[in-house]
Amino acid sequence: MFTLDTLSGKTILVTGGGSGLGLAMATRFAEMGAHIAICGRTEDKLISAAADIKNAGTKAGHTTTVLTHAVDVRDYAAVGVMFERLTNELGQVNGLVNNAAGNFLSPTEDLSPNAFKSVIDIVLHGTFNCTQHFGKRLIDTEKPGNIVNIVTTYTETGGAFIVPSACAKAGVYAMTTSLAYEWGTYGIRVNSIAPGPFPTEGAWSRLIPANVEAGFIQRIPLGRYGEHIELANLATYLISDMSGYINGSCVTIDGGERLAGGEFNFLTQMAPRPQLKQMFAAMKPKKG
Ligand code: COA
Repeated sequence: MFTLDTLSGKTILVTGGGSGLGLAMATRFAEMGAHIAICGRTEDKLISAAADIKNAGTKAGHTTTVLTHAVDVRDYAAVGVMFERLTNELGQVNGLVNNAAGNFLSPTEDLSPNAFKSVIDIVLHGTFNCTQHFGKRLIDTEKPGNIVNIVTTYTETGGAFIVPSACAKAGVYAMTTSLAYEWGTYGIRVNSIAPGPFPTEGAWSRLIPANVEAGFIQRIPLGRYGEHIELANLATYLISDMSGYINGSCVTIDGGERLAGGEFNFLTQMAPRPQLKQMFAAMKPKKG
């Protein structure tokens, strides 16, 4: 479906691009001819990811520029500094994938206000911060652009034990459809992707207790998890001009898993609540 120049002329920032699905998308974009920027909180991770991304671009015959920028997307001013630098060093950034996220399993009655706030800040405020700095520059220079937001299948259904993420992602979904209309008039398209289960170290360590994995996979009619390349191909399509008339849409890619209901609801049936609480507590990283 794609040719190696599908994304030539594009410069795309992937937030949280240092690992997991962000890295998979950034790598695929580089193969298709884009210049890439990735940001995240951990510099070392970004530098190692950048080498892989550049390598993928080179192997596909491109001279790929990959820029890394360590930033916490929660910090509005720091995100502004990042966009300033990207524009100076890469020229106009015309694609943005809001992928950076935070999530963990917790009974809602046990959440501290700061735990709720942390996820909302990363997912909802972080997406706003990047989106606004990105959009402003395009609007000021009268250039078109393209945003892909990573949401979830439980944006619509909600989900047990991931209330902060469900609330934040529902907000990102609303931002997607709102801006698709408001900024569509400037030639900026805004779409979202709702991925089902695509294993990554970050998500699995926080969201899938080892002894319930079998229950998790049983929910997927196709009987398997998604492969990173499948998500990366969808993102490539949406960020490319091939999807030029798609705006304000959310594309689900989950093997049909959402039809089984809210993604983590099944956990309520897996074990008595005290046992679940113990399982979740064991997954919580130690402070510091
Ligand atoms: N259960 C309950 N509360 C938790 C938790 C868990 N598993 N993990 C963190 N928290 C709470 C902390 O206790 C803290 O609250 P407190 O100050 O009242 O004690 C609050 O959340 C913030 O945690 P902290 O680790 O200080 O914040 P952070 O900004 O460094 O981390 C998180 C943000 C919590 C979202 C962390 O999981 C993260 O960095 N995630 C990014 C990667 C990720 O989640 N990837 C998967 C995406 S699907």
